[in-house]
Order: sequence, then C-alpha cells, then structure tokens
Amino acid sequence: MSGTLQRLAILGSTGSVGASTLDVVARHPERFQVVGLTSYQRIDLLVDQCQRFRPRVAVVPDEGKATVLRAELAARRVATEVRVGPGALSELAAADDVDSVMAAIVGAAGLPPCMAAARAGKRLLLANKEALVVGGALFMRAVRDGGATLLPIDSEHSAIFQCLPEDRSAWASRIDHIVLTASGGPFRQRDPDSLHDVTPEQAVAHPNWVMGRKISVDSATMMNKALEVIEARWLFDLQPERIRVVLHPQSIIHSMVVCRDGSVLAQLGTPDMKVPIAYGLSFPERIESGAQRLDFLQLQSLSFEPVDMRRFPGLQLAWDTLRGAAGSTAVLNAANEVAVAAFLAGTIGFTAIHRVNATTLDRLEPHLSPDHSLDDLLALDERARAAARQVMQELKGT
Ligand SMILES: NC(=O)c1ccc[n+]([C@@H]2O[C@H](COP(=O)([O-])OP(=O)(O)OC[C@H]3O[C@@H](n4cnc5c(N)ncnc54)[C@H](OP(=O)(O)O)[C@@H]3O)[C@@H](O)[C@H]2O)c1
Repeated sequence: MSGTLQRLAILGSTGSVGASTLDVVARHPERFQVVGLTSYQRIDLLVDQCQRFRPRVAVVPDEGKATVLRAELAARRVATEVRVGPGALSELAAADDVDSVMAAIVGAAGLPPCMAAARAGKRLLLANKEALVVGGALFMRAVRDGGATLLPIDSEHSAIFQCLPEDRSAWASRIDHIVLTASGGPFRQRDPDSLHDVTPEQAVAHPNWVMGRKISVDSATMMNKALEVIEARWLFDLQPERIRVVLHPQSIIHSMVVCRDGSVLAQLGTPDMKVPIAYGLSFPERIESGAQRLDFLQLQSLSFEPVDMRRFPGLQLAWDTLRGAAGSTAVLNAANEVAVAAFLAGTIGFTAIHRVNATTLDRLEPHLSPDHSLDDLLALDERARAAARQVMQELKGT
C-alpha cells in the first residue's frame, strides 16, 4: 500500500474506535482517503465528520435520520450522498472504490457488512469482535474465499498478530499457546457479593481504557475477554485450550505468544486504541499513531494475577461455547447483547447479565447445519435474542 492512496470506509465512524480511526487518518492525508462513514444515533457527529472528511457516501439506519442528515449537509454545502439501512452498509463495505474497511460497529449488526467486505476481498480491519464471534467458521471461509486480508484491531489480537511472522502458514508451528491479558475492569477487587447493586455508570468507568458503553460493561463482567477468546480461536486458528487469560491490571502488555521453544513474545504500549488502529491501517508498515509513548521509568510495576472465576463467571462461557454445539457462541453473543442493553437501560441488575447468558445457553439448542448460511446465523441470533428476553421476564418474576 506504500505510496498509494488507501480508500477507506469506516463502519461505525461515530463510535470510540471510529473516532480514533479518523484521528489517525487525519495525521496522514497523503495516505488515506475517506470514502464512506456511518452512524446509528449520533447524526450531529456524523455531520461534522462528513464536513471534515468529505466522504462520497454516509449511511444512517432510517429515513428520518437521512432527512436530518441531508438537510444539515446541504446547509454546509457538503456533497456527500446519504444512504439508508443495513443493505447500504453492506454495499459500502463491498464498493469498488473502497480498498479498506474499518469494521467498528458494535454488536452482531456488524456481521452482514463484514461478510460483504470479506467476500469482496477487502482489507478488513476488524474491531467488531461480535461479528467474528457470531460468524465463526462462515466468516473465516468468506475471508479465505474472497481473498480478503483480515487485520485484528482489538488491542490483544493486534498484539498477538504483531508477535507473529507475516507468513501465516508459519503460525501453527510457532505457537504453543497465547495469553490474552485482561485489566479486570472496574470490579477486579470488589467483593463479588456486592456486585448485584452496581450502577451502569460504575460499570462503564473503566480504569485504563476509554470505550463505548457496551464494551465497557463487557469489560466489567469480563464477557469482553470471553468474546476475545472466541475471536482469537478464529483469527489464529487455535484450539480453545491453547488460549489462556491472565489479569494484568496495568494494561501495558497487550497480550503474549508463548512459542514452542518456551520463548515468550509480548507487545507493549500505552493503553490507546490508536496504536492497533494505526498498525491495521499501515500494515505491514508502521506510521505515527499519535499515541503517547511508553515511559519505562514511570512504570511502577507490571503485575499478573489469576482470574477469580467466582467474580467473573462469564469468562468460562468462552471455552464452554467453543466446545459446544456449532452456533453456541452466536447464542452467547446475542444473549449478552440483550442483557447488557437491559442493564444499561436499568431494567436488570449487573449480576443478572451472567444469569441471562448462562440460562439462555442452557435453554436454546442452536441446531446449525455444518453448511449454514449467513441467513441461518441471523435467524439464530434472532431466536437467541427472543429466548434471552424471555429469560429476563422470568428473572423479574423471581
Ligand atoms: N472502544 C474500544 O476501545 C474497543 C477496543 C477493542 C474493540 N472494540 C470493539 O469495537 C467495536 C466498536 O466499539 P466502540 O467502543 O467503538 O463502540 P461505540 O463507541 O458504541 O460505537 C459503536 C458504533 O457503531 C454504531 N452502531 C451502533 N449500533 C449500530 C447498529 N445496530 N447498526 C449500525 N451501526 C451501529 C454507532 O453509531 P452511533 O454512535 O451513531 O449510535 C457507533 O458508530 C465493538 O465491537 C467493540 O467490542 C472497541
């Protein structure tokens, strides 16, 4: 890509990862051209982004938002075309004038455009871990068959990726196992018996990272790490037992590869998503990210702890679902999205999130055929959401 302009679509540009991506892109106008931006609720921010980056197209979820956006863009003399709905997201992801797609939508809603980008052979920068958790083998087949380049953006997976050789065929012979680090979130030291009454604001107050609300709650329950274990299984083609998790409260080591000969390779840096984003954008080169440099003399210590599974029971569900029936990880993801949304809306308590996830998994048999399609996965996602809502109703009655 060196020397050529990389034409970029950012799905979920108004979110935390989306905004950080634009921050990196703005530092390198000679390298990147923004072709498409998308938002869901925050139209004001999308207007500002369109005015600054002048994309060819902007995508919003419904006609009401499109009308507001068109009026605002016209008032500012911005010629961006406004498109509507999930179909327009997939069209943008596969468009001929797009080289790279930053997948930064939150949740399973990101799966169809990710699949479209994979099938169209794009360079696909994947922050949207839920898409891979739901899509699994089907997603990876689309990447392979479409000739896409899949680049991890999650800081842990970017760290693993940076520790491995560029030649993917060498990975299997190098890796003994990988260690994903986890900060432990805001409740790492809190008495597990007191977790039932934590508020959404307490749960989203992450000690090290500034992120969207859903992933922040997932970090507080450690469901985020569970989703990352599942993501790592697919990204690095590893059996579940080769993926381990250790608590590392400082979030300086972003993850590690333990090699067959006992060597441990780690990637370090300040906790700033601009680093993995810049690496995804520039791979295999490296560009300025704008992140603060690590100052070793300021580091007090790097410490490690085992995960207390009583405090974080959701983490075990990663290995359970990976070893379970095909589609189990999609059921877990759907239940968790429903439960987290309910928690953020004040409808259920914090510890109920795990009860909803575990009970939905117990109840729903995925019944996915080995040659399942994207539509089959989306139908399973819907069924799992309905089952999770039913579980929440029943929990309210207890
Ligand atoms: N934030 C991080 O540091 C971080 C780190 C690693 C991985 N990730 C992953 O990156 C993804 C994005 O995380 P985030 O923290 O950036 O989330 P976020 O701040 O909540 O942003 C999510 C983006 O997706 C859009 N969106 C939400 N629901 C949508 C839907 N149903 N259809 C289409 N667009 C939708 C949002 O639009 P509006 O804002 O306009 O509503 C926003 O642009 C997640 O999968 C997360 O796990 C994030």
